[in-house]
Amino acid sequence: MAESENTNEKSRTLVLNAFGGHDKIKVVEKARQKPGAGQVLVTIEACGINFAELMMRQGLYSAGKQALKPPCELGWEGAGVVAELGEGVTTFQVGDKVLCMTFTRNMWTEYAAVNVENVHAMPEGMSFEEAAAIQVNYVTAYHMLFEFGNLRKGHKVLIHMAAGGVGVAATQLCRTVPDVVIFGTASAQKHDAIKENGVDHPIDYRTQDYVEQVKKISPEGVDIVLDPLSGPDAAKGYSLLKPFGKIIHFGSANTISGSTKSLWKMARTYFSVKNYNPLNIITDNKAVCGYHMGCLGGELIREAVIAVLDLYREGKVKPKVDSVWAFEDISKAMGRLENRENIGKVIISPKKAPEPPVEKPKPVEKSKKKTKDQKKEAEEADKDATEKNDDAKPEKETDGEKAAEGEKKEEEGEKKEGEGEKKEGEEPKKEAEEEKKEVEEPKEGAGEKSN
Ligand SMILES: NC(=O)c1ccc[n+]([C@@H]2O[C@H](COP(=O)([O-])OP(=O)(O)OC[C@H]3O[C@@H](n4cnc5c(N)ncnc54)[C@H](OP(=O)(O)O)[C@@H]3O)[C@@H](O)[C@H]2O)c1
Repeated sequence: MAESENTNEKSRTLVLNAFGGHDKIKVVEKARQKPGAGQVLVTIEACGINFAELMMRQGLYSAGKQALKPPCELGWEGAGVVAELGEGVTTFQVGDKVLCMTFTRNMWTEYAAVNVENVHAMPEGMSFEEAAAIQVNYVTAYHMLFEFGNLRKGHKVLIHMAAGGVGVAATQLCRTVPDVVIFGTASAQKHDAIKENGVDHPIDYRTQDYVEQVKKISPEGVDIVLDPLSGPDAAKGYSLLKPFGKIIHFGSANTISGSTKSLWKMARTYFSVKNYNPLNIITDNKAVCGYHMGCLGGELIREAVIAVLDLYREGKVKPKVDSVWAFEDISKAMGRLENRENIGKVIISPKKAPEPPVEKPKPVEKSKKKTKDQKKEAEEADKDATEKNDDAKPEKETDGEKAAEGEKKEEEGEKKEGEGEKKEGEEPKKEAEEEKKEVEEPKEGAGEKSN
């Protein structure tokens, strides 16, 4: 993709400067791209955030040969309006509303040059936010359920992260097949939403053992497990499969813990993952699959996007948009996923204005808080006192008083700061307790593995 040379036109772009926390992604003004041959330039209105981008920011993402080397751009999917046509493009016109993907991961920008085979016309009535949300999540779910899963009438399916982007898409796609029974895990406060989306049996994985819960309702297990978690959940999912059942591994969310990389979580996920023995798979009559859209590319993705857009036109699927954020608020947007708050897709938009910064309440000086009446009273009292003292007070004394008062104020200020420090100091204690709790958990993981 060539950047324009003789133009002052800029494109606000999100750039990952180094692996780490939220501060590693910044909005940078880059030169606006020119569409190359076979490309269109799209004025971006909305972009999708995927779990993979949290992992990329933390340096936890692996995509085969496509290693990520900051400084670099991010973003797979977006939607907007065609601004310019590259040489040889005849299938679109300037002004067309389109959804698009870039496998070079540089969609989080105001103007994106995209290969025309990854561009699709937006269906009538679709919003830019929906268009940005329907690609990665729905294609992933579509391939897993219909290519690997061979989803059929009456199948039982376990969907983890059922309230997230892929989870919502997978649930809706399951609903396009008659009598499919869906078990969905999600945080408890999202259960009404996932039920409304089509999950039959919501399970709160934080307080319940989902294996037990599934077996209570379906003692024989399920036909398909979609596993985006990995670690100990790989073995749990496999244990739930019926004969001819399939587990499809497609993520490792268990490696994520908050906004920065946790080596402990990574090690725990890696060492508690199930290692499959081909001989056991034969006798178990089960199938194990792995899916990575980023390593697929090309025609297979294009076909799936077309199939999903047809389902949208038929009213069978509809992306659920959780929230829309400005580029400048990328950390808040990513925080929705990291803090497990989102229901559906989180969107960022170069067109949206950032939220005003939340001002910290300033400590109010007592004298400033005086009302007009209080001020008047104080002035009158001062006047009386001055008259009584016969104008005899030396200037020095006044300065001394002021200084003493200043010292007192400073002391008070320090005391307050000290209190603040104490409060902050309590956090590590809390974190240490959580870490301790986690250290105790592998015992469970180890047990799960040996089962
Ligand atoms: N292989 C592929 O091609 C491919 C493509 C797309 C996505 N994926 C994978 O699919 C999964 C879902 O992706 P998504 O983009 O749709 O994200 P998402 O589901 O919207 O992710 C956020 C939600 O995940 C749940 N969650 C579970 N474990 C978590 C953890 N450790 N940290 C934070 N949240 C956690 C939380 O909801 P609850 O607490 O309610 O569960 C949270 O709200 C990810 O594992 C991703 O890597 C893979």
